[in-house]
Amino acid sequence: MRLAWATDIHLDFLADEQVRAFAASLVADRPDAVILSGDLSHAEQLEHHLRLLASATACPIYFVLGNHDYYGSGVAAVRQAVTEVCARKPRLRWLPACGVIHLSERTAMIGVDGWADARLGDPEHTPVFLNDFILIEELAATLDPAALRDRSRLRGVDRRALHAELRARGDAEASQCAQLVSAALASHAELLVVTHVPPFAEACWHEGQRSDANWLPYFTCAAVGEVLRAQARAHPDRQITVVCGHTHGAGEAQIEANLRVLTGAAEYRRPQLQRVLTLA
Ligand SMILES: [Fe+2]
Ligand SMILES: [Fe+2]
Repeated sequence: MRLAWATDIHLDFLADEQVRAFAASLVADRPDAVILSGDLSHAEQLEHHLRLLASATACPIYFVLGNHDYYGSGVAAVRQAVTEVCARKPRLRWLPACGVIHLSERTAMIGVDGWADARLGDPEHTPVFLNDFILIEELAATLDPAALRDRSRLRGVDRRALHAELRARGDAEASQCAQLVSAALASHAELLVVTHVPPFAEACWHEGQRSDANWLPYFTCAAVGEVLRAQARAHPDRQITVVCGHTHGAGEAQIEANLRVLTGAAEYRRPQLQRVLTLA
């Protein structure tokens, strides 16, 4: 079983011809499936880009969504639209809606989008302010409308409601992850988990460094990490590999003896095959 993995491909920076060429490069060695770990595009063009990818490849495309995929719209609206596209194009498979994917007798795959949940690092004092908070409807709704009109006030804006929203979203992702992982490990010795946001500080790479306390709150999904660590400890005879993106820096982190996280590199305008995952 060979899976061609790419992450943070941000196709909104490319012309359609370049998207087709990239899709062709992903499947040049005829993998069994393509895996995309989020930040495929922006909301407005996401459906268009998913269709382009599907038309340029012959194998299933399993994907999760990243924060950029919601830009210009909202989480609920984009997930609804993606569910409808996948129903019409069976080759496109949004992993959170797929349950446990049985890849072989030995190996299963599951996926959750994940959500940076403002828990790790120093969420109370960070000066980092992401476009997410303005460009994703459900997040912008937590901020003072006057600050949204006068952008110079945004850095100092009260973030308590925003952080509560981020944590609730992280918890929802973790709860879905717990169900899927425990169902998968009941019947498979190896599990591939696809998610967008790194679940551990140790997996949070940016330009060759681990992210600092100011970036960690918005670069990690601690709630999903807790689920994965607990499941790995509860099933020492099972192997869990996680692939993720979001920070655009490559790295590997061994979290437990049987829990490894691969974080993918990315560069805007230069989407690339991250690696071909070979599974038994
Ligand atoms: Fe990204
Ligand atoms: Fe991202």
